[in-house]
Amino acid sequence: MLDVTATRADTDFSAAAFTGEAASGLPLPHLYARVAKHITPAEWPLIAHEVAAIERLKREKNAVILGHNYQAPEIFNTVADIVGDSLALAREAVTVDADVIVMAGVHFMAETAKLLNPSKTVLMPDMAAGCSLAESITAEDIRLLRKHYPGVPVVTYVNTSAEVKAESDYCCTSGNAVKVVRAVAKEWGVSRILMLPDEYLAQNVQKEVPELELIAWKGHCEVHERFTPQDIRDLREAHPGVIVLAHPECPPEVVAEADYAGSTAGMADYVRDEKPARVVLITECSMADNVAVNHPDIEFVRPCNLCPHMRRITLPAIRRALETMGPQVEIDPAVADRARAAVERMLAIR
Ligand code: 13P
Ligand code: SF4
Repeated sequence: MLDVTATRADTDFSAAAFTGEAASGLPLPHLYARVAKHITPAEWPLIAHEVAAIERLKREKNAVILGHNYQAPEIFNTVADIVGDSLALAREAVTVDADVIVMAGVHFMAETAKLLNPSKTVLMPDMAAGCSLAESITAEDIRLLRKHYPGVPVVTYVNTSAEVKAESDYCCTSGNAVKVVRAVAKEWGVSRILMLPDEYLAQNVQKEVPELELIAWKGHCEVHERFTPQDIRDLREAHPGVIVLAHPECPPEVVAEADYAGSTAGMADYVRDEKPARVVLITECSMADNVAVNHPDIEFVRPCNLCPHMRRITLPAIRRALETMGPQVEIDPAVADRARAAVERMLAIR
């Protein structure tokens, strides 16, 4: 799991720290060091101003910011208090000691945080930060599938709406999908499982559990579906010796060309543990920027596919959310109870 330790306790966000220029001549120089590869010294004062304002608001409102691994470096490395993959953010959401949670991620992640913290205020800096996978399936689709496959348990990816989760037996993330389908098969005494809505994730997991039959849906991630096996071959030719890590939302033919496939946290852990000299992450490209900060000696090859939804979250949007205490994520209680149960069943599987 990627560092879930991003409390910035060592950071002095007082006005003095902001205006009092340090040796480098830049405000908040210790934070600037973490983003210096992506932000020029000329751009930084404006960004540092936003960061300082957000830190003041966080203290005032007793808020924490959860940041997904795909967030832009100037969010991930500065104001995010807890960072990680979808699974880590869901787990951390349960333990957060604050009145307000700001989701620096996409809408389904904010809904998951709200499901697990019904009494807390959950702010989504931009409600339009969606996900092509969450858009690919509705609650009605699941009801129809259940009629078609009676008695077959439904495992849905967390990249879905609360309404879809409410129709599901279990949730899973890319970090625990294999474990979840094995546990469900055992608990229900079945060998067929509906695994929705990511067709490629289901196909990639299927390779790990040949004893089971996973029935998939036609949802795809608009970022990961763009990678091709030829891309990987070209990268290997252009960058000899490069180690290729791929997210399991990529098509199976792409994963087959990779040296390792895993969730965003799985990829970060691989880099930390294996320390490859040269590596490429076949996933959303801000991820490599964020992982690279902790590994200055590793060469990161960076093909760039950005998630347009993740990019909607900006420092000014986070500041506005904290200033106005909106937009807030609300979930119909009738939906929330059932959706929460599916998420909690997932979290109970260790
Ligand atoms: P992770 O759970 O691996 O962080 O992935 C979430 C996601 O949206 C990937 O596109
Ligand atoms: Fe959804 Fe893909 Fe963006 Fe992840 S990268 S949030 S799966 S669209």
